Amino acid sequence: MTRLLHLSDLHFGFERVALVEPLLDRINGANPDLVVVTGDLTHRARRAQFAQAAEFLRRIEAPLIAVPGNHDIPLYRLADRMMKPFRRYRRHIAENLEPIGHVGALRVQGLNSVDPMSWQRGMLSAAQMRRVTEALAPDCINIVALHHPMQQRPEVDKQLMRGAREGLALFEMQGVQLVLSGHLHRWSAGAFLGPDGRQILQVQAGTALCARRDDRQNEFAELEFDQDALLIRRHVAPMDETGFRPPQELRFQRRDRLWHPA
Ligand SMILES: [Fe+2]
Ligand SMILES: [Fe+2]
Repeated sequence: MTRLLHLSDLHFGFERVALVEPLLDRINGANPDLVVVTGDLTHRARRAQFAQAAEFLRRIEAPLIAVPGNHDIPLYRLADRMMKPFRRYRRHIAENLEPIGHVGALRVQGLNSVDPMSWQRGMLSAAQMRRVTEALAPDCINIVALHHPMQQRPEVDKQLMRGAREGLALFEMQGVQLVLSGHLHRWSAGAFLGPDGRQILQVQAGTALCARRDDRQNEFAELEFDQDALLIRRHVAPMDETGFRPPQELRFQRRDRLWHPA
């Protein structure tokens, strides 16, 4: 059995201060084999915000990989955004913007979907797609982790990432089983929608720590893999409550190359 925690959109600088300690308690209490953070570690990519985020990550006891989000590069300092967008991220969080996590049967490929030219939308390039498919491990559950979603519900008003459709079709064809993403501050978990149903499962994390009232709640996901079974525990802390509720559980079973709700 392998346990992975998926956190996203911490937004240090605009974080829900009272939830920092309960969140760390939950993370370390779950005793995960790997923690994956899918971007927006800071709110405005300021030095002090990165220092806060780095301190938070240091207090997580499990191995951890992270990828940047659009809030982790400067928005208003245009010259910095174009010339050295990831300078602070690299200094405070990690030099590698596309780390790989390998624990038990899981292989997680991090992807940097941030596009300095298109701050909100993000992008996945053909070279990135190739890097994923060329490195797939046939004996592993191959997972891709990135900030921007590869598919969105029609009611979402943000533009879908450039390259998302092509990337998703390719990943599916090549046997990626799961995509972890963030950015929308809205949770969803289930198969990607497609003409015949997609073979990839999407876990779209909400925000773990952003204090924006419109988000209504903070949350993160715990994914427990046991051979062909996947149990997802969704840990939710509503904004008007003091901490996390007992987790909600969702179960999936892998059959005929598909994850079926169980
Ligand atoms: Fe965010
Ligand atoms: Fe974002």
